[in-house]
Amino acid sequence: MQTDLSIVILAAGMGTRMKSARPKVLHEAGGLPIVEHVVQSAIAMAPADRIIVVTGHGADTVEARLAPYGTGFARQTEQKGTGHALMVAADQITHRDGLLVVLYGDCPLLSADTIRGLLERHTSTGAAATVITTLLDDPTGYGRMLLDDDGNCFAIVEQKAATPEQLKVREINSGIYCFDASLLWRHLPEIVPNPVSGELYLTDMIEILRRHGHAVKTLRVADPAEILGINTRVELAQADRHFRDRKVRQLMLEGVTIERPETVTIDKFVEIGPDSVVEAFAQIRGMSRLGSECRVGSGSILRDVIAADAVELHPYCVISDCTIETGAHIGPFARLRMNATVKEGAHIGNFVELKKTQLGAGSKAMHLAYLGDSEIAEEVNIGAGTITCNYDGRKKHATVIGAGAFVGSNSTLVAPVEIGEGAYVAAGSVITESVPKGTLALGRSRQVVKPDWQPKAKK
Ligand code: UD1
Ligand code: CA
Repeated sequence: MQTDLSIVILAAGMGTRMKSARPKVLHEAGGLPIVEHVVQSAIAMAPADRIIVVTGHGADTVEARLAPYGTGFARQTEQKGTGHALMVAADQITHRDGLLVVLYGDCPLLSADTIRGLLERHTSTGAAATVITTLLDDPTGYGRMLLDDDGNCFAIVEQKAATPEQLKVREINSGIYCFDASLLWRHLPEIVPNPVSGELYLTDMIEILRRHGHAVKTLRVADPAEILGINTRVELAQADRHFRDRKVRQLMLEGVTIERPETVTIDKFVEIGPDSVVEAFAQIRGMSRLGSECRVGSGSILRDVIAADAVELHPYCVISDCTIETGAHIGPFARLRMNATVKEGAHIGNFVELKKTQLGAGSKAMHLAYLGDSEIAEEVNIGAGTITCNYDGRKKHATVIGAGAFVGSNSTLVAPVEIGEGAYVAAGSVITESVPKGTLALGRSRQVVKPDWQPKAKK
């Protein structure tokens, strides 16, 4: 945390090329709205009350989304350029000295490490401003860096204004800068509208600072992806791929095996313990935390799942907001949701749904069941096709099943109902009254066999 640092995040732009009713910076890459990645990097660097987000298009929605971070906001109702955006933020900046970093809300891949590198370079050279740049094979569309023989930047020229000679420059302006804050605020009003577009270009600050005898330096980053600005949904998908690649790389280096890593989707804050295996096409999202030696089967989708060690999820499980204890086996094709809890060593098989249900240690529900609003103790066997009828059309009701109970196949448990410890429910029963512990309940009509009966036609 750098205490003399203020950060302005420019996020007022319309994002026309997204062709979207949603503000551009709220489109998601890497599991988060793009502007949120930028705010998170900023929060890692400076106190929230020294971070100002400049909003404009969709300001209400953008500000509402970012409110929990505690940053300040400045409204730029008319987008009159990057220099103008900074002028709008000026009133909100309480500390006019120290350092000021400018970030873009549509440039989410920039890492906090690179911002740190920018600050180091800036302070070590004593420059008035330092610009993050990179070399591009195709620099079309970007502002070009014009450097003198000593590596000082004397101007940034925009694509539209560049001479054919200047267009050949491959070092481009990322739009991310560190300024000596007092110099910036002193000279910012000197930016004049661009003669062609009428906008106020922040890039003009470079020449202004030079005119006043100050040096401007650059920090060239090796990986152009870091400064990928998002303008279209194609670039959004590219950014997403970069986030996913970074995450799987981090996990693999931490000891997680990831099969076909280019096919999996793992969100930024997900944690997975060593010697776990993630199979191809798995998605692990939100704040999921998995222990060590787990396996996430191919095609499984997890969101906000807490799993202990040695949990085995077979392919195609869809699980959200659940807790799974050590050694549990789930799937394939299982659906767990709304605070379902699977206790130690329990087994859930194919086509089983658990909603707001706890399945006790060592209990099994191996095939075709719906268990909702239920509390199932340990070592219970839930037969194939068991349904808890938890909803009477108005309210939800609970099913409680005691330890060691055996629920036969195709049982219908009409809640509220309780099956006692060690009780048996005969296959095919409709259970409407509680079954005392240790008893057998048969809730079906007795089979009748009619030996002499034949269809009329046959007689
Ligand atoms: C800008 C730079 C260019 C650089 C490029 C890198 C200028 C004049 N040019 O060009 O040198 O290579 O970024 O991507 O600065 N924004 C506002 N308010 C405004 C205008 C822009 O908040 O009035 C925000 C946008 O939402 C966006 C960022 O600033 O996040 C950059 O604006 P954009 O219009 O995309 O700048 P470029 O033309 O790409
Ligand atoms: Ca841009």
